[in-house]
Amino acid sequence: MSEFDRLRAETSAAIDAAADAAALEVVRVGALGRKGTVTELMKNLGSMDAEARRSFGAQVNALKDELTQRIESRRAVLADAALSQRLASETIDLSLPARPEPQGRIHPISQTIDEIIAIFGEMGFSVAEGPDIEDDFHNFTALNFPVGHPARDMHDTFYLPDGPNGQMLLRTHTSPVQVRTMMSVTPPIRVIIPGRTYRSDSDQTHTPMFHQVEGLVIDEKTHMGHLKGCLTEFAQAYFEVDHVPIRFRPSFFPFTEPSAEVDIGCSRKGGELKIGAGDDWLEILGSGMVHPNVLRHCGVDPERYQGFAFGMGIERIAMLKYGIPDLRTFFDADLRWLRHYGFAALDIPSLLTGLAR
Ligand code: DAH
Repeated sequence: MSEFDRLRAETSAAIDAAADAAALEVVRVGALGRKGTVTELMKNLGSMDAEARRSFGAQVNALKDELTQRIESRRAVLADAALSQRLASETIDLSLPARPEPQGRIHPISQTIDEIIAIFGEMGFSVAEGPDIEDDFHNFTALNFPVGHPARDMHDTFYLPDGPNGQMLLRTHTSPVQVRTMMSVTPPIRVIIPGRTYRSDSDQTHTPMFHQVEGLVIDEKTHMGHLKGCLTEFAQAYFEVDHVPIRFRPSFFPFTEPSAEVDIGCSRKGGELKIGAGDDWLEILGSGMVHPNVLRHCGVDPERYQGFAFGMGIERIAMLKYGIPDLRTFFDADLRWLRHYGFAALDIPSLLTGLAR
């Protein structure tokens, strides 16, 4: 075997065996570097005649070219393998969720309040709020419950020690915020007032703390037809049905005249409650035209302004819509209940995207 063939065979084997770029570089320097085995061959040229020198030189150069090419292609193979290995080790599992499933749920009361706000917001109402700890004037007197009036007793009030404005109490309804609104805003007024209310009553259908939402509209030409239209619109949007019949039953509240309890149509066929047209009725709220005495107490001229008001229990309409059978479970703080009846944080109610779920 000629010197050329031996070098070619040995170097090629070393090239093929090089496991990575660094090992390949060692082989290259060993063969083609300044003191490499192939470069060293040139030292023989000095002892050759011109003819032999030309052909030997050409052979050395051919071998150099050949080995250089082999090294380059081996380098490309190694680079490819290194890249593939890196890609394999750096893959991302896109099937994994970006974040852990959120654990918290929105309480059905909060969700229902948001739905109510979304619906009335669309009708041009804004939200008003007032304090949970009220005085007797705002909770009763201004609302036309004279001292000693029997309607006061129906409220099972939690009384607190006297404050700067006399007798203090936990508000028994959201209606005192009507008073606060009328005393501070010049009509036209169009507000809804969601909030907590308190009564000393506890059984299967009563909890000492519960939620109401109040509505109040005061303007120069407001009449009961507006009340009916507004509540019909609300019932249809809230219960997400195209047509909900609505019925007014005469009733009494000191702060409205006339007063009416409002029922919506439903069917109870087969023991299943369905809101909408049917042969049955379901009471959902109290309402009426704001009593002139209330307007007067709040500094609103009853000769110029009138309006309507309504109030409903939020737990009750949440139970109806979401099929929650037991009022008291709302306040048990039972995580299993909340996981079942609660809402995802991004289920933000809107009339465009749907109210919930
Ligand atoms: N405040 C009443 C209650 O708690 C509910 C109510 C009835 C509010 C009629 C109103 C209304 O604004 O007009 O029982």
